[in-house]
Amino acid sequence: MKILHNIRLLHMTPSKCVVTERAAIAWVDAKITFAGPKSDLPKPLPGCEWIDGENMLATPALIDCHTHLVFGGNRADEFAARLGGASYQDIAATGGGIMSSVRQTRVQSEQQLVASGVQRARQLLAEGVGTIEIKSGYGLDLATETKMLRVATQIGVQTQQTVRRTYLALHAYSAFEYPVRADFINNASGPWLQALHAAGLVDAVDAFQETIAFTADEVTQLFEAAKALGLPVKLHADQLSASGGADLAARFGALSADHVEHTTRAGAEAMAAAGTVAVLLPTAFYCLRDTKLPPIDDFREFGVPMAIASDCNPGTSPCTSLRLAMHQACTLFGLSIPEALCGTTIHAARALGLHDRGELIAGQRADIALWTIDSPAELVYWLGHLSVRKLLLGGKQVLL
Ligand code: NIG
Ligand code: FE
Repeated sequence: MKILHNIRLLHMTPSKCVVTERAAIAWVDAKITFAGPKSDLPKPLPGCEWIDGENMLATPALIDCHTHLVFGGNRADEFAARLGGASYQDIAATGGGIMSSVRQTRVQSEQQLVASGVQRARQLLAEGVGTIEIKSGYGLDLATETKMLRVATQIGVQTQQTVRRTYLALHAYSAFEYPVRADFINNASGPWLQALHAAGLVDAVDAFQETIAFTADEVTQLFEAAKALGLPVKLHADQLSASGGADLAARFGALSADHVEHTTRAGAEAMAAAGTVAVLLPTAFYCLRDTKLPPIDDFREFGVPMAIASDCNPGTSPCTSLRLAMHQACTLFGLSIPEALCGTTIHAARALGLHDRGELIAGQRADIALWTIDSPAELVYWLGHLSVRKLLLGGKQVLL
């Protein structure tokens, strides 16, 4: 047993943050057995190890539930083009956008991709992120999708973060490579999915449903195949237009519908009924200079859990700060501080189908972040770097 004492312990719900002073957390192996005021701590086992928390604020390690952080190269040229007036859609239509990252990712070795991916994952780690979702989707062929998911696995081994791997099967379509569109859909939803699943590389399956990407019928074909294999699904939904993405995600009981700027009230209601989490990606909204706000009030009214993620990717969110995403979720989307903190802890865990983390209570994993700040609001307030002071994952201190 280990006991972390002399901490200020944070608990939150979407409506409030509560800090318990003079608190302690005890765990055995990786699992919390007690969290609360030190005065309530059950008699410790003989020989247990005591760790002094130096009166730091203890929060659950943060969870980034939507990233594309494995990729080759960058797309700074497109950023410049967008500043010059080109739209994301214009750039995609001329073979740039996601296809540019596909080309740059295909030519890199697994080792090169691990090196840059680990660097980005470590930047998140420095902000207290203990769990990261990483999507494939810059391969669009089996060899590269396999390479990306193997790289994602390797990143978790090197950083000690939990990595959840999502096969982003339908991200972009190349008519040049697949003159018959159905051939690509059939491959991505059939033999590639089966091979990646058989190799143990897939925790969830994702698609991009949009006018510039894939239709509801195409996504349905993929999701039916995923469900037949017992894999959970997620969806890039309603990012650029109201395309019925939230409804489709809900119909399949998706873990999450992500972006959701254009989601309708009916879509939000369907998500609530299905238990689908809304993953907000304000850094992408900001980078694309979008103006359509996600229906936050509808999500609140229907009780849709809201998560927040960095969407780290080379096109719409070249960002390795989950705290910046929290800040923008508040300033741009109107979330409160407790909502933002739930969005990167408990709700982010649910968006990944994880029920063993996101709160510092008995029974959960001892994934604990320690911060030298006075109030929980500071986690969201500071713009720029605020490092976590100590990070314990599965009860073990990790190197930052
Ligand atoms: O989450 N919307 C689609 N996918 C990514 C962007 C990918 C890219 O442009 O490379 C996103 O924003
Ligand atoms: Fe994305």
